[in-house]
Amino acid sequence: MAKKAKTVFVCQECGYESSKWMGQCICGAWNSMVEEKVLDVSDDKRRRTSGGKGTGVGSETGRGGKPSRLNSVSSMEEKRIDTGIGELNRVLGGGLVPGSLSLISGEPGIGKSTIIIQAAASIASKGEPVLYVTGEESEEQIRMRADRVCGELSDQLYILAETNIENISAVCQNLEPKFLIIDSIQTMYSEDLESAPGSVSQVRACGSELMRIGKSMNIPVFIVAHVTKSGELAGPRIVEHMVDCVLSFTGDRGHELRILRAQKNRYGTTSEIGAFEMAQEGLVEIENLSGVLMDEMDQSSEGAVATATYEGTRPLVLEVQALTSKCNVGFARRTAIGIDNARLNMILAVLEKKMGLNLMDQDVYVNIVGGFRPEGTYTDLAVALAVCSSYYGKKLDTRTIVLGEIGLTGDLRAVQNAEKIVKEAARLGFERVILPVRNAEKTGEKVKGIQIIGLRNIQAASKLF
Ligand SMILES: Nc1ncnc2c1ncn2[C@@H]1O[C@H](COP(=O)(O)OP(=O)(O)OP(=O)(O)O)[C@@H](O)[C@H]1O
Ligand SMILES: [Mg+2]
Ligand SMILES: [Zn+2]
Repeated sequence: MAKKAKTVFVCQECGYESSKWMGQCICGAWNSMVEEKVLDVSDDKRRRTSGGKGTGVGSETGRGGKPSRLNSVSSMEEKRIDTGIGELNRVLGGGLVPGSLSLISGEPGIGKSTIIIQAAASIASKGEPVLYVTGEESEEQIRMRADRVCGELSDQLYILAETNIENISAVCQNLEPKFLIIDSIQTMYSEDLESAPGSVSQVRACGSELMRIGKSMNIPVFIVAHVTKSGELAGPRIVEHMVDCVLSFTGDRGHELRILRAQKNRYGTTSEIGAFEMAQEGLVEIENLSGVLMDEMDQSSEGAVATATYEGTRPLVLEVQALTSKCNVGFARRTAIGIDNARLNMILAVLEKKMGLNLMDQDVYVNIVGGFRPEGTYTDLAVALAVCSSYYGKKLDTRTIVLGEIGLTGDLRAVQNAEKIVKEAARLGFERVILPVRNAEKTGEKVKGIQIIGLRNIQAASKLF
């Protein structure tokens, strides 16, 4: 097995290996090279043990095996495993795919272990063995959390406090779990390597061993991973390429709201989001997220505008806030949270040119409430009107939803799925929707019970104030 130890320098940011130390890695990171000892293990041990029961997705039939007819390979679609958590199933694309490897990342304390133990308990309660491997907490700590969030525990839920990946692999061979959880990848290590747990080579080795376990036993594997302060995955950038799904769990520290989204998903869309509330009894699904967000909207102040985007398969109603205030010295500041700074600058330029706002000496702050970062250009018009509202010191009616893309000419461009957004707005009790005229024409006759105002360009919005 192990032959000769060699050392390499591995960039802890990108995983680049070099035989010599470098001050700056090819990825641009400074001082990121760490010396790691690597035992030269021939990889035929790995090859012999892989393959096995796996069918279809990911089974390693390619190596020296016969090619199969694609239409005779069984499809995984109907075999998805229900996690018992609707919002998690949705983000995964309809449940867990057997043999798939998923990574869940998020800041400390956000609720990664909580959501995973809830899913584990639910799958175990159907009589299938589930193995939860913890490298961070003791068995007692996991038990305490499980008692709090899972209700009665099934005797098919197994817990293992272990960090040695070879031992974990052996336990899996014996137990044959139907679902494997590793909490967290940064605490796991392989005997084959001498570097510390959490280093790039360890994370990579453990990741590929877990992939082998998942594929050969044809079970889904969930890996918990930490993120650095800047929100990047610590170390496992490499694992990100290896896994089938990367889920990120985000939320406001001060708030109970938690949002789960897929950054990568080989078995579903990445635009789907799942919403939860962190409570005493664990993560509670929020089905009516728009309603919850709108309940909190401040009805009385200038600069707040309700808007909507389309996330995955459903509309999401959000609040945009803007504040303009006279700056005393130097350049005016533009600060955007939740939207692109360049996008904000463009919108402000259009407002100055087309609506005659004088923003030269005004600091402008824009915030999408709740820590959301809506994709696409749905929120352009709402941002513009929120800025106008603050600038003029006039409120915009909060029973109104505003959406639409703004072009450089000040023209409003149609957005997709407007009809579904209008329906959602009507359902939530909004009275008016302001949107590009092209969208208004199409939705006008179809949705009843809500006033629809179509605008051709941004100038036409001035009559709202
Ligand atoms: N009794 C409780 N009531 C309500 N919420 C609680 C309670 N105990 C813990 N929590 C919530 O659970 C969170 C911790 O959840 P969890 O341990 O799942 O996070 P994690 O992402 O796994 O953290 P880590 O990165 O430290 O492993 C706390 O930040 C807190 O919000
Ligand atoms: Mg945890
Ligand atoms: Zn690098």
